[in-house]
Amino acid sequence: MRHLLSMAQLERPEIERIFAITEDLKTKYEQGLREPLLPGRVVALLFEKPSLRTRVSFETAIVHLGGGSMFLGSDSGWGSRESPADFARVLSQYVDCIVARSYKHETVQELAHFSSCSVINGLTDLAHPCQALADLYTIRERLGDSQGQTITYVGDANNVARSLAIGCGKLGMNFVGAIPEGYDFDSEFLALIERELPDFPLRIVRDPIEAVRDAAVVYTDVWASMGQEDEAEQRRHDFADYQVNAELMSHAPPDALFMHCLPAHRGEEVTSEVIDGQQSVVIEQAANRLHVQKGILAWLLGPQSR
Ligand code: CP
Ligand code: NVA
Repeated sequence: MRHLLSMAQLERPEIERIFAITEDLKTKYEQGLREPLLPGRVVALLFEKPSLRTRVSFETAIVHLGGGSMFLGSDSGWGSRESPADFARVLSQYVDCIVARSYKHETVQELAHFSSCSVINGLTDLAHPCQALADLYTIRERLGDSQGQTITYVGDANNVARSLAIGCGKLGMNFVGAIPEGYDFDSEFLALIERELPDFPLRIVRDPIEAVRDAAVVYTDVWASMGQEDEAEQRRHDFADYQVNAELMSHAPPDALFMHCLPAHRGEEVTSEVIDGQQSVVIEQAANRLHVQKGILAWLLGPQSR
């Protein structure tokens, strides 16, 4: 049974396959065609945290593909009413795929372990692979060949940064992290990079101005992720020099793109001037979540898979 829990589980040809399916389906969608590649397939969305983009793009994607979905919130009893093993074994008898968003990464691993259907990680504390795929797809659409291009990620070495970094390594892109001391990638993640992507030059630079100098893309995310709300004040202080504002963007090449996974905290990690500015592609980046979810679902569940 194939799952998608982390970018590390994808080989480059598999990413290229997901992108090829995405491109085909996006082109058809723009022509008014919604190809029913997954008739009758059912996706369950099991979410412990809020979501707009991930939830709605998956729900819409599966409808466009001829299937259906259901959203399972806290009233499903997940984590409280029965054992995770019983929950996963039973739920996976009813549906073809589970998209799960959880606080702990171990939760989606446990779900996948006990499920007889595919499990997709819809964000955990450690990874957001569907976001990274949509980001890399957007970059490729905008830049053409992204090989050798540099993404500079400014901010917290969080779930989004980790998945993006691995994705860059898989696709031959450079990743520069402008990350304040104390908020670095952990040693387990760095060991994974060294093991899986030995030739990938993941660079960490403390000075954001130096970090953006060669950037084809400047990317940021919130300073306090979901589940870290009680650290928000401390983080506002610690990340103060890492705001993506017009001054920082002026040190990047003039054609550099600005990206953000959203939701954004305007006035913290990014100013309105930048996120609403000419270089920002955040809305098309969010729109591509829909198209790339279709690529992921069709790759995992459809006749085009493997
Ligand atoms: N970017 C992202 O995953 O957004 P949501 O939290 O709204 O799903
Ligand atoms: N790092 C953020 C991403 C939200 C899509 C979080 O985990 O809250």
